[in-house]
Amino acid sequence: MAKNRIFFTKIFLETDDGFGNFVRFVGIVVGVVRDKFAPAVACAATDSHVKGRPLEGPVDMFETFHELREKILGEFIFDQDRAVHRQKLAIGEFLEAAFVLVHHHVIHRIPLTRIFTRQVHFGVLFHEGIINCREFLAHTHETHQNSTIHKFSVHWKNIVKKIFSTFERMKNFYVTTPIYYVNDAPHIGHSYTTVLADILTRFHKIIGYQTFFLTGTDEHGQKVQRAAAKREVTPQQHVDEYYHRFEDLWKKMDIENDFFIRTTMPEHKAFVQECLQKLWDKGEIYSKEYEGWYSVGEERFFGEDELDENKCDPISHRPVEWLKEKNYFFKMSSYQQKLIDFLESHKDWIVPDYRWNEIRGFLRQPLNDLCISRPKARLSWGIPLPFDQDYVTYVWFDALLNYVSASTAFHKTYADGTPIWPATYHLIGKDILTTHSVYWPTMLMALDIPLPQHILAHGWWLVNGGDKMSKSAGNVVNPMDYMTKYGVDAFRYFLASAMVVGQDANFTHESFVRRINSDLANDLGNVLNRVHRLVLTNFEGKLPAASSLDDAANEVVSIAKRVIGNVMEWVPQVKLSQVIDEIMSLVRSINRYLEIKAPWKLAKDPALKDELATVLYISAEAVRLSLCLLWPVIPTKAQEGLAMIGSKFTDVNDLAWGILKGGEVFGEGKPLFPRIEEEVKKQEVQQKPKQNKPLTAADVPAAMDLRVAQIVEVADHPDATSLYVLKVDAGEGEPRTICSGLKSSYKAEELQNRKILLFANLKPSALRGIMSQGMLFAGDLEPETHKCRLVSVPEDAKPGDRALFKGVAPSEPRELKVKDFEKIALSAKGGAVFCDTLALEVNGKPVTCDVADGSGIH
Ligand code: MSP
Repeated sequence: MAKNRIFFTKIFLETDDGFGNFVRFVGIVVGVVRDKFAPAVACAATDSHVKGRPLEGPVDMFETFHELREKILGEFIFDQDRAVHRQKLAIGEFLEAAFVLVHHHVIHRIPLTRIFTRQVHFGVLFHEGIINCREFLAHTHETHQNSTIHKFSVHWKNIVKKIFSTFERMKNFYVTTPIYYVNDAPHIGHSYTTVLADILTRFHKIIGYQTFFLTGTDEHGQKVQRAAAKREVTPQQHVDEYYHRFEDLWKKMDIENDFFIRTTMPEHKAFVQECLQKLWDKGEIYSKEYEGWYSVGEERFFGEDELDENKCDPISHRPVEWLKEKNYFFKMSSYQQKLIDFLESHKDWIVPDYRWNEIRGFLRQPLNDLCISRPKARLSWGIPLPFDQDYVTYVWFDALLNYVSASTAFHKTYADGTPIWPATYHLIGKDILTTHSVYWPTMLMALDIPLPQHILAHGWWLVNGGDKMSKSAGNVVNPMDYMTKYGVDAFRYFLASAMVVGQDANFTHESFVRRINSDLANDLGNVLNRVHRLVLTNFEGKLPAASSLDDAANEVVSIAKRVIGNVMEWVPQVKLSQVIDEIMSLVRSINRYLEIKAPWKLAKDPALKDELATVLYISAEAVRLSLCLLWPVIPTKAQEGLAMIGSKFTDVNDLAWGILKGGEVFGEGKPLFPRIEEEVKKQEVQQKPKQNKPLTAADVPAAMDLRVAQIVEVADHPDATSLYVLKVDAGEGEPRTICSGLKSSYKAEELQNRKILLFANLKPSALRGIMSQGMLFAGDLEPETHKCRLVSVPEDAKPGDRALFKGVAPSEPRELKVKDFEKIALSAKGGAVFCDTLALEVNGKPVTCDVADGSGIH
């Protein structure tokens, strides 16, 4: 969310008090960053007056702060000549704002640190002018009392209002799913988007946002009319029966949507007609005789140049028919430049960025006007055009408007009365990107309605190692089957954790079983059961309090605090799979701690009872936090787990260290996620080999699946002196084996735990009898001696994170051969890794290699 980011920073203001003492004010500054600059800024809270030496520390942010302060002061200056006075006001205003913020904090009970996405710390020294401390404080007081500075107060009120309205905006989260075609049987693709929206909503709720979550069904159009005719019922009867399949599934999946919209609802229909009438009155819609290729499946015309190689509809690849008829058109083309300008100034409007590039590329061609009507003679099941009763509305024009009608036409607002539109995120699949990123914003521009803040296009769930699910291929995964067999929360967890938002993911039964067993049954289950059992057997089921913390305990506490901070920061950026990985890293750190402290051994020696108590307290508190943080993903199981340790998740206040106090009475224990004891075949064996077209050099960057991985084991190859056999964790549950010729460059201990870049979709091959499942990358240091340097990934990259070439959308997964890779060349440029001019990045940060410019990366 680069557009409207709030930063929260600590500042130190230091002055001479006029008597040779330095006085330090510690405070906070809250800024709202729009585009590159921060136009609105609040305040500081004085904390302490510290006598002592001038602050030492970084002042490199001085310029930024200086600019910022100038900007604020711009709003307050009433006497340009009195510079010193002006300076006093700057500090005075900081203080005053602090009171207001603290008040806000008390009233709304939101800890300040929790509403901000980022924390930066920097120091600022005030150089210009000496401030007498007492005079300064007296002045601050005066800002309330003295009528001569009345003007200042008025300005101040305005800016506070402005800042607060921004807070209000920032604190709202409105997320939508596409409205699903009512005719379709719900499958995991639909479940994914809806569960993603549900989890994001719950996460935003727990970090203090007001939320609104919309889903629904798309109920007009030719397919519905035909299906109803086939069943010999009216279309209305048909949709009334069928929409339940979605509503029932969402109930079963614990989806807490605030509203379920159906496009056949009278309020929505009236809203669509109102919008059409407005556009007609404004001259944004015109009629003309039109002929062209019409696709029944897609319910739209296609230009000759848009058809596929068989002259069929380019989306469904079904035959098209030539049709000639009068229709109504929306002047979409006249908004092309406005849309381009908008995109250029909102580069994060479409997430991920390679989808932004895709739409920007699409807009390089002239945009056509949009046909928004269908003659009733051909299709009657739609919303009649208000200005011509012989026509109904094109189904996409009707469907897209649901996002606004759902709140406006149904008079819905957030709890505090603020309007719900605009949406924070429209979650969609990548196949409906154009309708959402071209039709929709131009419609809104014409209607003078603000645009949504972001469109997030996720990838597809593929099955059988790379096929798209479809009814006709008979490979649809039924969510109900999974939930019935393995539980709702296990299914939610799998969907949310196994797909990196934006990229395609493969649904195999094996990967499902592996992930549930490793993350939930093993990692989470182990810590919870161990703590539960030990408290039951050693402390009669009552949590003991901790005494003094050693390094190992402090490490758990600091990981817990880091995780809370990162979750707060990443949730608004919708980095869901990273958020889950981060929480699971806390869970794993508790297991590590338990292994180190071995409380089962401590329990044998009564003299070590205090130490045992501390270990159990620290572990229980960290488990409590992990479960609270996982609540959005596994709501029922998280509360069950919390009940086991005598706790529960209530609200944002639970997301802090130290909520358990000791003395909590533990509940009954049971495995939250029983291990799935099924024979699962190796994924490689299961997957059906795909017939793929040969790749050209230009296709290779998109086709390479490059993943961050961490070396977890290093051994010598039993049969090759130059090779190591590495086990690497690429976030897949089970580590991969990689044979690698790194011996002349690295000692085994230098490789242990090191993060590397893995070529994950390279065809496995046997190296001296050991199967190597991929390759890792290194740059040439001394080609003659085969000395090399491993490629480095950004510090915060996690196993499983994908590396992408900047601006290149990944293509559908397939296996590559070494000879495919040899079609391109990777090399180092200024320390970064490039393929030609394409920079390689993980989560937007460069992949690097410390070798000379121009060195090859292999
Ligand atoms: N009715 C339109 C949306 C109108 S929104 C104003 C529609 N409906 S749909 O039911 O066909 O598709 C809904 C969503 O499901 C799309 O975002 C689509 O990408 C998604 N999925 C369908 N199959 C999918 C997968 N296999 N994997 C992930 N999502 C996919 O389009």
